[in-house]
Amino acid sequence: MIIKNVGVIGCGLMGSGIVQVAAQAGFSVLFVEANDELVRRGLGRLRETLEGLVAKGKLDATAKDAALARIAGTPRLEDLKACDLVVEAMTENQPLKNETFAKLDRIAPPHAILATNTSSCNVTAMAAATRRPGQVLGLHFFNPVPLMKLVEVARTILTDEGVVTTATEWVRALGKTPIQTKDSTAFVVNRLLVPYLLDAVRLYESGLASLEDIDTAMKLGCGYPMGPFTLLDLVGLDTTTYVAEVMFEEFREPRYAPPPLLKRMVMAGHLGRKAGRGFYTYTK
Ligand code: 3HC
Repeated sequence: MIIKNVGVIGCGLMGSGIVQVAAQAGFSVLFVEANDELVRRGLGRLRETLEGLVAKGKLDATAKDAALARIAGTPRLEDLKACDLVVEAMTENQPLKNETFAKLDRIAPPHAILATNTSSCNVTAMAAATRRPGQVLGLHFFNPVPLMKLVEVARTILTDEGVVTTATEWVRALGKTPIQTKDSTAFVVNRLLVPYLLDAVRLYESGLASLEDIDTAMKLGCGYPMGPFTLLDLVGLDTTTYVAEVMFEEFREPRYAPPPLLKRMVMAGHLGRKAGRGFYTYTK
């Protein structure tokens, strides 16, 4: 099967990154956002990002124009009727995702592959909400999508082998490196990363060291590109808490339980970089 037209549901942090890399790799991309205003903002952000790359000399103006010409946005899910592959990248909400997959199944052409960028929701439940469970799988990108090379290809017990092969080839066509995993909460990366991030919060809560020193310790002591608190702010404290809660619910292991401080920071609206404040404060 040849993928030409790609749909992306959601043009937030992850969705816009997926739109960008797919358009730069030569695919026609149509993204769906909740309303006209969010479509307009999504298009504006993509233009700004690509223009920024041109200004830095990382992309030539012709390639930028060609990528932008391949991107369109719509507030209507029904407009995804000509897509060969749709990647859902909405917020983490299982009932909403199941409902969206059921709708999408009635809209997308019969051959289309339906993928989810979820990090913690149940892919099998999304597949079961459609009449094409063999064509549903997880394609889990990492933040920031244009820079992170990995995509986890997550098959359920219902996914057809040919669909896994086509989706894996598409990931390679984006210039990313795929790894294969099963549909199990949090897949490979988050299964290891989330307990580490939660432990960092517990360490800080215990008063062992300052935020800055814990970050410096992991950067310089382990060669990690970012310390855990900088990374928590990048990923989003709300997203991390949600993923941790789903993992705790699934595995019932204390190491996955979000620590009290993390929950309270989310309640306080300190969600990380996107909110201007998380463990650190950000000015534009
Ligand atoms: N498209 C293409 N290039 C872009 C870009 C974009 N949208 N945005 C920035 N760039 C370019 C910049 O122009 C810059 O180039 P330059 O250095 O030549 O100017 C280059 O990318 C790197 O930018 P930075 O200076 O910001 O890069 P750093 O060297 O500081 O690296 C980082 C940034 C790649 C984010 C690195 O710090 C890192 O790897 N951090 C860890 C991130 C991580 O772990 N992510 C995974 C999170 S977990 C997750 O996502 C799972 C989810 O389910 C929760």
